[in-house]
Amino acid sequence: MKASVLAPANIAFIKYWGARDLARALPVNPSISMTLSSCVSETTVEAREQPGADEILLADAAGLLSPAPESFARRAAAHLETLRRELGFAGSFRVATRNRFPSSAGLASSASGFAALTVAVVRALGRDVSTSRLSTLARLSGSGSAARSVLGGYVEWPREGDDDAPAFPLADAAHWDLRDVIAIVETGEKEVSSLDGHRRAATSPHFERRLEELPRRLDTVRRAIRERDLALLGPTLEEEAVDLHLVAMSSRPPIFYWNPGTLTVLAALRDLRREGLSGWATMDAGANVHVICDPASESAIAVRLRELDGVVDVIRDRVGTGPASTESALF
Ligand code: PMV
Repeated sequence: MKASVLAPANIAFIKYWGARDLARALPVNPSISMTLSSCVSETTVEAREQPGADEILLADAAGLLSPAPESFARRAAAHLETLRRELGFAGSFRVATRNRFPSSAGLASSASGFAALTVAVVRALGRDVSTSRLSTLARLSGSGSAARSVLGGYVEWPREGDDDAPAFPLADAAHWDLRDVIAIVETGEKEVSSLDGHRRAATSPHFERRLEELPRRLDTVRRAIRERDLALLGPTLEEEAVDLHLVAMSSRPPIFYWNPGTLTVLAALRDLRREGLSGWATMDAGANVHVICDPASESAIAVRLRELDGVVDVIRDRVGTGPASTESALF
């Protein structure tokens, strides 16, 4: 009754921002993402028949276990309770987890963490569960982006017009080899969580206007993925990212995720494109910049971004295939 799982983070091309029901992560709009490969959470779950308190541990890089910090433990415990109810299990769980993101990345991701926890619980219980059901279970953690991280490749969630629907694949990872060069310009915890961001989103005068733009953007991104057309994807990717942050900055109270390094990277990218490289930026609820690019541009972009003031690290990731079991258990 023990399973260990690696589950990836994802980067949204069209963002989930604003919820109809935040506790169940029912989004206002469909989102589209690319599942990553190296930025993964690693989670071991043991299911025990005897009821009792769950044990939630954090593993450090050397594998040493310690009790998880309060805020994380609370969210994980609530999700275990949900999974117990949804899967009809009366026993208890022992959980250990860690992020395998390069150190000091500041990319702590609820998507990979809750996808890994969900998949590991299902596997520890030996349940045969469809990917759609896994997506819904992951979403019930309250992290909507986790609903996308149970699938590999290019993923949309939910189906248009049905906010309760699971994520579904647009294309698998082998369809299009895109890279994500992540310029780390911030390493600490962000000041405002994405949950608070969703809560405030509709207070922005730009919220409704962004929703009006989305059908066009969604169509463009779907078509760009289908046709593997980075020149078509790129401008829409940047437009959508800037719009998300415009909504955040004009929410009440406002949320400023960017820092000066974010703007430095955006300016450098404009220069790089003038030089013929193909890379386009997107930012989630934070200051770090994900540069989506083709394999031929990846090295040059990584080298140039590393030289910039304010960039403390550069991580090179790529589209990935989704969660996988691992032999290396954390306990
Ligand atoms: O899944 P949450 O509640 O952490 O929200 C994700 C919010 C963004 O990362 C900004 C956008 C997205 O779709 O991933």
